[in-house]
Amino acid sequence: MTDLNQLERDLLSQVDAAGDEAALETVRVSALGKKGSVSELLKTLGAMTPEERKEHGPLINGLRDKVQGAIVAKKETLAEAALEARLAAERIDVTLPVPEAPEIRGRVHPISQVIEELTAIFADMGFSVAEGPDIETDYLNFTALNFPEGHPAREMHDTFFLAPDEKGERKVLRTHTSPVQIRTMTSQKPPIRVIIPGRTYRHDSDQTHTPMFHQVEGLVIDKQANIAHMKWILEEFCKAFFEVEQVKMRFRPSFFPFTEPSAEVDIQCSRKGGEIRFGEGTDWLEILGCGMVHPNVLRNCGLDPDEYQGFAWGMGIDRIAMLKYGMPDLRPFFEADVRWLNHYGFRPLDIPSLVSGLTS
Ligand code: DAH
Repeated sequence: MTDLNQLERDLLSQVDAAGDEAALETVRVSALGKKGSVSELLKTLGAMTPEERKEHGPLINGLRDKVQGAIVAKKETLAEAALEARLAAERIDVTLPVPEAPEIRGRVHPISQVIEELTAIFADMGFSVAEGPDIETDYLNFTALNFPEGHPAREMHDTFFLAPDEKGERKVLRTHTSPVQIRTMTSQKPPIRVIIPGRTYRHDSDQTHTPMFHQVEGLVIDKQANIAHMKWILEEFCKAFFEVEQVKMRFRPSFFPFTEPSAEVDIQCSRKGGEIRFGEGTDWLEILGCGMVHPNVLRNCGLDPDEYQGFAWGMGIDRIAMLKYGMPDLRPFFEADVRWLNHYGFRPLDIPSLVSGLTS
């Protein structure tokens, strides 16, 4: 006959030694499972005489109860220890600031934001977006736009010239977005209504000029487009862009080789304390040049000036960004200083639209 005391000691010490729930389960199966040592003992009761059963029954049942009790208790201890370990490992300090996800932490550069804003405004007026390369031919940047060879207007542009290529052609970094007017008129049939945002380059640097800057060109060509339409579009644009009911704008007669007549447009601002503010003050900031497209330019694009006419403008994106968002100096725009971007940048998920607001 099995030594019950010995078996009990063995089983209880196995229970005690079980390091985790899986080990404990193995012990349980070996003792109380179908073929377990204690279960086998219980089975022997059936073959016993009533007297034997009276004597052994309580002992074997007692053993079973003890082992079972020890297993349950051990299970609880193990579960508690596991919870303690998890609590210690997954401890969090709820007083720490919540870190922002990368897509929330990133910032959209004010230039990108302003391009999105003005695209939304002009798209609402039925304009589409056209683009051209930063490296441009002398012909498209100047000649086709009615700049005569050797004309002083070419010098006024402080052009960056590239080294001549194998054919002796000297390309330029485009000094304005106007060459894309030519690209558009030679590739699309009127009616044309496009805006052309992009990078432009001139040898110039101070608080409001950088060698690389941004313009948005506008071009409208059809059979009737006239200067009144242009004025209306530009005023509507300024009101929508600056999010005001009225804008003080000033049209000054000017000269550009590719427009006739030509004008420059200033917008009212204040420059008190070196800070540039929109909608107040007695100063003016030039934001764009415009005019009726010169007949020579239409001709250079294969359009008959007796049939077609139109207007165009070129606006400084950086200027209107500075004005709208009160940024006094243009140079930090291009210094890639993350502190500046954190301060002046925009949240990536706030997409400008006329419906939800340009700057929510
Ligand atoms: N391209 C001119 C500049 O950069 C700006 C300009 C003036 C563009 C008149 C135009 C225009 O389209 O019609 O100074």
